[in-house]
Amino acid sequence: MYILITGGCGFIGSNVCVEVLKNTTLSIIIVDNLCNSKYEVVSKINSIINQPQRIIFYKNDIRDPLDSIFSSYPISTIIHCAGLKAVSESIKNPLEYYDANVNGTINLLKYCTKYNCHFIFSSSATVYGNGNNMDSITETKNIGSLPIGNDSFQNSPITNPYGTTKLMIEKILYDTSIAYPKVKVTALRYFNPIGSHESGLLGDDPNGIPNNLMPYIYRVALYNYKSKNNSTCNHLKQSAYKQLQIFGTDYNTPDGTCCRDFIHVVDLANAHVCAMNNTNLTNYNIYNVGTGKATSVKELVDTFIKVNDVEVPYVESDRRPGDVEILCCNSNKIQTELNWHPKYSIDQMCIDVWKQKDS
Ligand code: NAD
Ligand code: WQD
Repeated sequence: MYILITGGCGFIGSNVCVEVLKNTTLSIIIVDNLCNSKYEVVSKINSIINQPQRIIFYKNDIRDPLDSIFSSYPISTIIHCAGLKAVSESIKNPLEYYDANVNGTINLLKYCTKYNCHFIFSSSATVYGNGNNMDSITETKNIGSLPIGNDSFQNSPITNPYGTTKLMIEKILYDTSIAYPKVKVTALRYFNPIGSHESGLLGDDPNGIPNNLMPYIYRVALYNYKSKNNSTCNHLKQSAYKQLQIFGTDYNTPDGTCCRDFIHVVDLANAHVCAMNNTNLTNYNIYNVGTGKATSVKELVDTFIKVNDVEVPYVESDRRPGDVEILCCNSNKIQTELNWHPKYSIDQMCIDVWKQKDS
């Protein structure tokens, strides 16, 4: 049997590929249109696993017909990581986000229902929306609704089209799992994935200026490291990387900066293997994937500086609109039901990110 991994060249998908290849005897089919990744990632996965016969790659958009793939290989599971993920970009260009994320998923579901695959979806903590009490969230917390009409839209806890696509997709997946009892769905709600594969080969190093904290810390550290050593790095010409901005230092948290549930991407990738091996699947299975520990923005930056012995100059800036003070999950469900346990510390997450500089 084969496992189809959409978005398998991306930050999370590539690490999922490695963990699936490491922990099973199955082969994988990667479907990625490379809009936010590079073909070299396939070689990187291969250099880690060294079994090229188990990796098939298709440069394909998930919205395009995939008949020839599904009719050529017996596919038991679809791990759906492909998607657009930048919150600010989704506000500027909502149609692109609804098309790629929602229509892309619907297209995959047409094959999923025909071939009765287990569908594992990269969902997100974003489905819980923004609220005051965002600490220790369990899967039973109400997720956002999709109300009709202006007034009720203002009360919706989800504040951007990216988040809405994830919520819509979860609703579509749920309805599909009811209508097609042979199709089982697992929604993994990721919290804040950071880190890299221990080789440094598969990290979060997006095209363009990063929106997320860790890839920004990495670029600032690299920019300052290269400047100190009088070397340059082509993609780091922007002065944007001279220093990091810390968005908001007056939150009601121990050091005033926001707190997040950061999770190592390899631990996250392993959660997909645990989901694949779940022998007690119901129609719709939801799991939070996080460590359950909150770390502040400032703590993360200070840890990165300390464990890697590098400089990350930062300035304190205004709050970033839409940020929630603390976002942390309760991950007891996945730990108990799937025997998944996170292994990596914040120190290790920072160490592994810095390994990217040599890769
Ligand atoms: P990424 O951008 O690194 O990877 C996504 C991959 O999907 C890329 O390789 C891209 O080329 C591909 N892709 C995008 N649209 C496609 C399409 N229409 N057809 C085929 N391929 C397409 O992002 P990531 O961080 O690895 O995120 C993976 C998934 O996890 C996404 O669905 C994202 O929404 C979700 N997620 C990410 C985070 C995070 O913080 N990184 C948190 C929660 C959920
Ligand atoms: C974390 C903290 C920032 C950049 C987002 C999405 C969410 C999910 C994960 C996909 C915040 C602060 C950041 C910087 C900073 N993605 N920060 N300086 O906002 O928790 O979640 O990514 O599903 O849906 O919303 O992650 O990494 O952007 O920010 O101070 O240059 O770091 O203000 O407090 P976030 P993030």
